[in-house]
Amino acid sequence: MSKKFFLETLGCQMNVRDSEHMIAELRTKKNYEQTDDVKEADLIMINTCSIREKPVAKLFSEIGHFNKIKKKNAKIGVCGCSATHLGKDIIKRAPFVDFVLGARNISKITKVIDIKGAVEVDIDYDDSLYAFDDYRSNPYKAYINISMGCNKSCSYCIVPFTRGKEISIPLDIIVNEASRVVKLGIKEICLLGQNVNSYGSSLNDKKINFTYLLQTLSEIDGIERIRFTSPHPLHMDDEFIKEFAKNPYICNSIHIPLQSGSSSVLKNMRRGYTKEWFLNRAEKIRELSPDVGITTDIIVGFPNESDEDFLDTMDVIDKIRFEQIFNFKYSKRPHTTAENFDNQISDEVSSKRLTEVINKHKSYNFDILKSKIDKTYDVLFDGTREDGIISGKSSNNFTVITKGDKSMLGKIAKVKIIETKKNSLSGIIVN
Ligand code: SAH
Ligand code: SF4
Ligand code: F3S
Repeated sequence: MSKKFFLETLGCQMNVRDSEHMIAELRTKKNYEQTDDVKEADLIMINTCSIREKPVAKLFSEIGHFNKIKKKNAKIGVCGCSATHLGKDIIKRAPFVDFVLGARNISKITKVIDIKGAVEVDIDYDDSLYAFDDYRSNPYKAYINISMGCNKSCSYCIVPFTRGKEISIPLDIIVNEASRVVKLGIKEICLLGQNVNSYGSSLNDKKINFTYLLQTLSEIDGIERIRFTSPHPLHMDDEFIKEFAKNPYICNSIHIPLQSGSSSVLKNMRRGYTKEWFLNRAEKIRELSPDVGITTDIIVGFPNESDEDFLDTMDVIDKIRFEQIFNFKYSKRPHTTAENFDNQISDEVSSKRLTEVINKHKSYNFDILKSKIDKTYDVLFDGTREDGIISGKSSNNFTVITKGDKSMLGKIAKVKIIETKKNSLSGIIVN
């Protein structure tokens, strides 16, 4: 009988993709099967995130709990970003942990499971050419890594210390992977990198950049939708913005992480752009790509953020009216330069600013949703709701619900929007 593993994934899409790689390795090379029941697992793993303090605290509470309920002799492994930056300290703090496997070392999964006390956390390790077996957790959408690591040094961010220097994955490997998933019937690919539009910088061929990659992928026979995350505002050149607007395979939605609207805070964050540059890029995208959905990330309460700085952030929100905002209170992270900045902002002030961002978005969100009524969108259906209702995403990334059944899943259909729901659109299929 094959052994069973349980895997919990925290963090971002990169971790989701890393988990898929680990699952593929364990299934094909070690004949393991996945289980949702931690109590019956022979191997329990958590793929961790370090971006803020909260998910790290969650790691220790989760593994403590797993240790109490696990089967006798079941192994526990800590993988991913917190594994990298905490390394062997994890085993010091939780001696029942059997192995620690960093985000950059996941190709070693089939080795470390057999070595009690293994700690593999080298951030210079390169598995960008490693031929992982394929496993996809979603039958309709596929994540594809285009780069690993990050060469930026944003002063608040731990990622360069958990995922190392940036390496671009060679173009032919990406094209092969995309062609493979298209043949499997997958409709949408999402390209992953911490800074997708610096793609190519570590390759020898000067013509290969992110725009070229997008053009090349659009030529694959049968490809329907391309998304990507995250582009860096600094590297959004005109060539890219034009390609984004005119290429019919690229979805009409883009994540542009603002972080702060204040040029002085952006400077302290070492983001490399100003408020004006960000506005110029976002406005140009709105101009060339009508009806585009723009999402963003905002950090409030960064050290030294004054009331005026925060008003600049609110001003950018007013001007761009992001379709969605992922907002975070600044969280002090080890290894980062901002860790030692003076004038850390109190939790009370950060919480107040966070609430203001949320309320600002709420104040115009309904108008955005309402403006979509009577429009018709191509929707890729990927979920069912109660009573014959299915849901999917429009190209500009709105959740759209309509009447339908399971036979529609994985298909793209035109939906005319009839009404708005709290955070989604509802309509009827018109083709
Ligand atoms: N590479 C992406 C970001 C990846 S991290 C980029 O450059 O935009 C995802 C988001 O987490 C960031 O955009 C940022 O908003 C948030 N984040 C990162 N470090 C943080 C910290 N120390 N405190 C709070 N939020 C943070
Ligand atoms: Fe972190 Fe900045 Fe790199 Fe994004 S670009 S992963 S925020 S260091
Ligand atoms: Fe992602 Fe968290 Fe690592 S956001 S890159 S899993 S620190």
